[in-house]
Amino acid sequence: MAKMRLDKFLSSAGAGTRSEVKDLLRKGAVEVNGIVCKKPEQKVEPSEDTVLLFGERIAYEEVAYFLLHKPAGCVSATQDVHEKTVLDYLDEPQCKDLFPVGRLDKDTEGLLLITNDGDLAHRLLSPKKHVDKTYYAEIEGVVTEEDIKAFCEGIDIGDEKKTLPAKLTVLEVAPRSKVEVTIQEGRYHQIKRMFEAVGKRVVYLKRISMGPLVLEDSLKKGRYRRLREEEIAQLKRGC
Ligand code: URA
Repeated sequence: MAKMRLDKFLSSAGAGTRSEVKDLLRKGAVEVNGIVCKKPEQKVEPSEDTVLLFGERIAYEEVAYFLLHKPAGCVSATQDVHEKTVLDYLDEPQCKDLFPVGRLDKDTEGLLLITNDGDLAHRLLSPKKHVDKTYYAEIEGVVTEEDIKAFCEGIDIGDEKKTLPAKLTVLEVAPRSKVEVTIQEGRYHQIKRMFEAVGKRVVYLKRISMGPLVLEDSLKKGRYRRLREEEIAQLKRGC
């Protein structure tokens, strides 16, 4: 395996952000092959060198976070016999066990977080955490003030409980209305079922943000990028 900087090794292994890791190094919390090392730039060979943090061995497994602009026509799964999956868009052979955090329908586009950090994914998906997810949608029919009020009050979509309050903003009223909707949960087909409950049909759906993550226009469909350190830290702080 190629040598890498000690601070990168530690932050990739989930010990903290690069600046948190530098702090740990300064405090003398890290040993490399039995010797305290305070230098972030020290090179280590992950499969040969023994790195200890507060006396605990750090096994090297890259924890990675990617933001994919999911195109329509692929499924949010790690494998599928018949369909193309969202993982088919990533070329990261060094990152093991990647999976999508939550699901977008096959015909839904937009922001999808892909990671191998099971703990963070679990927290992001927890119904208790209420992580905001905003969608741009096009709706057959005219979206009304009553719809906005109904979304705001929570909607009965046939589950045990009504949905939590959702924010519906109308961008353009037309036979095909353009709207933005922010929901706090991630129930199965939630946006489609909420519009169905008020007698309307979603004809186009794209997720544009999730918590602190925003899908930028420059990231084209089918492309992905690594999350920035600040985004990872914000995600972790938010849940
Ligand atoms: N709501 C839906 O109906 N579909 C999605 O893919 C995401 C949210």
